[in-house]
Amino acid sequence: MIITALKSNNDLDKRSPLHMETVRSLIDLGAEIWFEEDVGHGINISNEEFVQAGLKKHTREECLKNGDLILTIQALSSDELNIIKPHSTILGMVNPFSNSQLINLCAELKINLVSMEFIPRITRAQKMDVLSSQANLAGYVAVIESARNLSTGLPMMMTAAGTLKPAKVFVIGVGVAGLQAIATAKRLGARVEAFDTRDVVEEQVNSLGAKFVKIDLGETGQTEQGYAKELTDEQISYQKELQSKVCERSDIVITTAQLFGRPAPLLIDNKTIDKMKPGSVIFDMAVESGGNVEGSKPDEIVKRNGVKIIGISNLASQVAGHASLALSNNFNNWIKDFYDADNSKINFDFEDEIIKSSVLVFDGNIKNERFH
Ligand code: NAI
Repeated sequence: MIITALKSNNDLDKRSPLHMETVRSLIDLGAEIWFEEDVGHGINISNEEFVQAGLKKHTREECLKNGDLILTIQALSSDELNIIKPHSTILGMVNPFSNSQLINLCAELKINLVSMEFIPRITRAQKMDVLSSQANLAGYVAVIESARNLSTGLPMMMTAAGTLKPAKVFVIGVGVAGLQAIATAKRLGARVEAFDTRDVVEEQVNSLGAKFVKIDLGETGQTEQGYAKELTDEQISYQKELQSKVCERSDIVITTAQLFGRPAPLLIDNKTIDKMKPGSVIFDMAVESGGNVEGSKPDEIVKRNGVKIIGISNLASQVAGHASLALSNNFNNWIKDFYDADNSKINFDFEDEIIKSSVLVFDGNIKNERFH
């Protein structure tokens, strides 16, 4: 079997599905590994290093045409799908909710499609969970970028020139990204408050030394996979009203609220922004999925009444080295669990919960009912 790894096809995304620290375990599986020329360019790993490790360098076209298992961190175009051999498998981050065309074409061309975004949230699959590995790094980057845009520091400093107060940070949405944002802001010395509609996270917030803001929204809860349920319009409007008071006293507000497969809820409107202190920063981590903040734009800093509203797409790519290390481990773990070395093929056992959830197309059929 030939496993091929494609270079990112987006200039803003410097990540790679291969990393020097993880190629050894891939090679040990016994498959032949090809990589697209310059796959490690964004993380300072040269073609020569991969070749010395035993991998083979090829063009993108050759990788697409010959790969039995093709690793990618972005969706492929229709032209690219058309040169892939039938019964080959694409394993990657393919943004399935925005790419129904890709799913249909894979079925038509009999290309198997495995979406790493659909790895189920079960303990055994945590090592393959790309959403968590990348959200964790994104939470870190959000704090660093927010701090860079503030005119004050984060920690308290008692100096001969006076006492400098610590910054106040408010994190809305305490999933993987939110927890890392809290931890990072705490490490930098900020005072941190946080809120999530899933009140099960209160204990986690407290254990990081932050304060959980209590807003009683009545029935909220989470899905079986641990994702938040969508709130009613009344609940959102009550949340906005009470949250607004915390935003007013905060120097940095980081919003991470997402709803899997649906647009993110709008949680901070202009009314709230207008009450915030000039110089404060709002970082909208949901900017790519619709945005939690009114007026936020991907890859722009929008200013309103002296408040900076920051939206950066693909945050994990800002720390591409670590993001690639984590991603390549996620990929390798999926491959290790499902590669049948004796028969040199992927074992598509649909009795397995991970296969059932992550394989969107197999043998010409769309397997995941969300895309029927
Ligand atoms: P996510 O990226 O879908 O959402 C981020 C956060 O926003 C969530 O905590 C969600 O509750 C919150 N949110 C949604 N609407 C909101 C609103 N109106 N106001 C405030 N907050 C709102 O979530 P993520 O980070 O992917 O994780 C969700 C949960 O799943 C977490 O508890 C995480 O620990 C758990 N998880 C479990 C895994 C497992 O294998 N068991 C793996 C990964 C995550």
